[in-house]
Amino acid sequence: MQKFISITKQINHFRKKSISVSGDKSLSIRFVLLYALSQGKCTAYDILKSEDVISAIKNIKKLGIKIIFRKSKCEVYGQGLFGFRYKKNLILDAGNSGTTARLLCSTLIDAHYPTKIIGDKSLIRRDMNRIIKPLKLFGAKFKDNNGKLPILIEGTKFSRPINYIENLGSAQCKSAVMIAALKTIGITKIKSLPSRNHTELMFKNVLKVPIKIKKKKNYDLIQVKGINEIKPFDYKIPGDMSSAAFFIVLTLLSKNSQLILKNVNINPSRIGIIKILKMMGANIKFFNKKNYKGEINADILVKSTKKLKAINLNSSLNTSAIDEFLLIFLVASRCEGISTFIKLSELNKKESKRLDWGIKILKMMDVKVKKTKNHGIKIWGNKNFQTNKNYIIKNYLKDHRIFMLAVIAALSLGGNWKIYDPESFKTSFPTFLKVLISLGAEIK
Ligand code: S3P
Repeated sequence: MQKFISITKQINHFRKKSISVSGDKSLSIRFVLLYALSQGKCTAYDILKSEDVISAIKNIKKLGIKIIFRKSKCEVYGQGLFGFRYKKNLILDAGNSGTTARLLCSTLIDAHYPTKIIGDKSLIRRDMNRIIKPLKLFGAKFKDNNGKLPILIEGTKFSRPINYIENLGSAQCKSAVMIAALKTIGITKIKSLPSRNHTELMFKNVLKVPIKIKKKKNYDLIQVKGINEIKPFDYKIPGDMSSAAFFIVLTLLSKNSQLILKNVNINPSRIGIIKILKMMGANIKFFNKKNYKGEINADILVKSTKKLKAINLNSSLNTSAIDEFLLIFLVASRCEGISTFIKLSELNKKESKRLDWGIKILKMMDVKVKKTKNHGIKIWGNKNFQTNKNYIIKNYLKDHRIFMLAVIAALSLGGNWKIYDPESFKTSFPTFLKVLISLGAEIK
């Protein structure tokens, strides 16, 4: 197998091009896990066929649920809310996926036997306490390794509803509590910092779960009532904003280019990157907006922008751009002036220490950058920034977003790049290189 890819040429300008990005990862994983709890056959169209989603599918199959996955169509034959076939000594492997590990645990609060959850080198460093704490309140028992994988979870027949304060701004934690609440008798109440709201929209518009949501100024109050049955439904998964973001930034930073991205999810809780790029002066427009079961999807038009300006960002958009900050840092390096970002400690808790990696890659490229108090970062941008140095990117825990960032930096800013672990992007965006090549990128 090839050890690395090399890029030695910037991409030539591209115009009148239109692309589709892979299906949304958050929605795809939620589809698999929630529909496994339904009573009957559910079909998802355009589901993301990436390693993270395949991890979720493999585990649900191990729990006795039939799943047929052909091309981009995925059929899940749910056996009801309490329909998992638990076995002794069962081991579930979440691979690289934090969403799979955390949300899977929430579906196991009735597990009859201790069930082991394991993960890869990157996932075993990540905090599981954030979901162990609330799931214990529901009545589940855990044996864990100081809040890290591998963990053993054993459920109870008598889960009870809980009151919970989610103060990390983590959609995974909020969703874990909401999903566990389904298997209780009574009402679970969550006070949560705002974060992506796909689970709320699925509960309300697709699964028809009794849910109440009150939006307060700085937090959401969510009430979920336990249920007896989820009726089967079909779902068509839109493109992933977090994948689209790589192409939006590539276009912005390339000369005389223009791109249309078809049918991308523009849920307001996911478009922090667009708002931030627009504050920097980017030319981005949404059109053909459609409401599909409460989710807003649209086509996106982006044009390269010569004059980008630095920004001082407060933390209000942090959660809605949480997976896109590496790209935002890259754009800041091409902005006129000094950009600052604050309160980004969650970035170092992702598949790799992304805040540290962002700083490291910019420093490698001779961009002046500083880590500031409050888990912040300060970037001195230059509107004419180009590079022709040699770069090697390796030992990044195969973090898909680091791999894709390095590719976009190479194609838009120049230099000779060797990027190791060339399969990394398959975690979230398996067609990433193919789409780039269709735009004229030369990747060896
Ligand atoms: C996700 C939520 C985010 C995000 C992750 C997917 C989800 O994590 O980083 O890629 O699907 O709920 P947190 O909620 O932990 O911030």
